[in-house]
Amino acid sequence: MLNIPTHLKGRDYIRTQDWSKEDLLTVINVAEELKYAFKHNEPTPILNNKTIFLMFFDKSTRTRNAFEAGMTQLGGHAHYIDVSTSQISHGESAKDTGIILSRYGHGIAIRHDLVPYEGENYMRDMAFWADKPIINLQSDIDHPTQTIADLMTIMERFGSNLRGLKVAVSWAYTRSYAKPLSVPQGLIMLLTRFGMDVVLARPPEYKLMPEIVEIGKKNAEREGVRFEIVDDMEYAFESADIVYPKSWGALHLFNNPEESLKLAKKYKDWIVDSKKMEITKPHSIYMHCLPAARGEEVTDDVIDGPHSVVFDEAENRLHTAKALMSLLM
Ligand code: CP
Repeated sequence: MLNIPTHLKGRDYIRTQDWSKEDLLTVINVAEELKYAFKHNEPTPILNNKTIFLMFFDKSTRTRNAFEAGMTQLGGHAHYIDVSTSQISHGESAKDTGIILSRYGHGIAIRHDLVPYEGENYMRDMAFWADKPIINLQSDIDHPTQTIADLMTIMERFGSNLRGLKVAVSWAYTRSYAKPLSVPQGLIMLLTRFGMDVVLARPPEYKLMPEIVEIGKKNAEREGVRFEIVDDMEYAFESADIVYPKSWGALHLFNNPEESLKLAKKYKDWIVDSKKMEITKPHSIYMHCLPAARGEEVTDDVIDGPHSVVFDEAENRLHTAKALMSLLM
């Protein structure tokens, strides 16, 4: 049986920025142990008979299934709530929902990511009233269950000393819907804290939230690393160790899907292909939180090629989800 540290029991996990680096590394250490146990078919009944509620205001493949499968593997039950079929869609408050679900189970996890400046506020409101831990499954601000899995994946490839690695976090084209800003925002907040030099590339209209950029800048200053924002994907890719290109919506057009799509079409050349990968370091890795728009954000030969770690990254969603639930619940 694994020895799970108890000092994080009851904590909320809403932004990685709310947690110390040491506590984030504890999640990764526990995830590594759970990954080993899973690969060796060792049972991990850490949360026997416990219940987590998974509230989704948006769709999901990886996050939902990592938490559902993960909870089953820990001996408990994950209870999926499609918010559109609950009383929340008739206006029930975060306060009332949080108090009630706290009385029914042991943890509440929420995805609320589609409307800028709504999701995290909802989670923090619920966290104030709920007396069980709240886990952010993606908000408008951060996607901390994704970025912790990304950090674990980076450490698996490059070791624990990440100082001096160059990471290109970049916008990429898709004709799909306006995706949340939470992944690039989560990455610039987290990776700067772990000693990496971060270059954020995006077309001028695709700025991230200014207050989050400020956090990234302050983290970089504190750590003595570089954090640069450019509007040139190739410049960001030059000699990068890690590239993480993905699409997100223009903040000012979230309520205007037609204009948003029109704007994105101006930047169809923001696609990762083998030519762009050639300017990165030979050992570089290509990351994406998925789902990826093949043929728009990235070509098949890159996402299926030797630089790509996307399936390891997606797998690590399971192990980090289990670690978080084991530590918090
Ligand atoms: N990366 C990620 O969060 O995937 P899902 O949207 O499928 O959960």
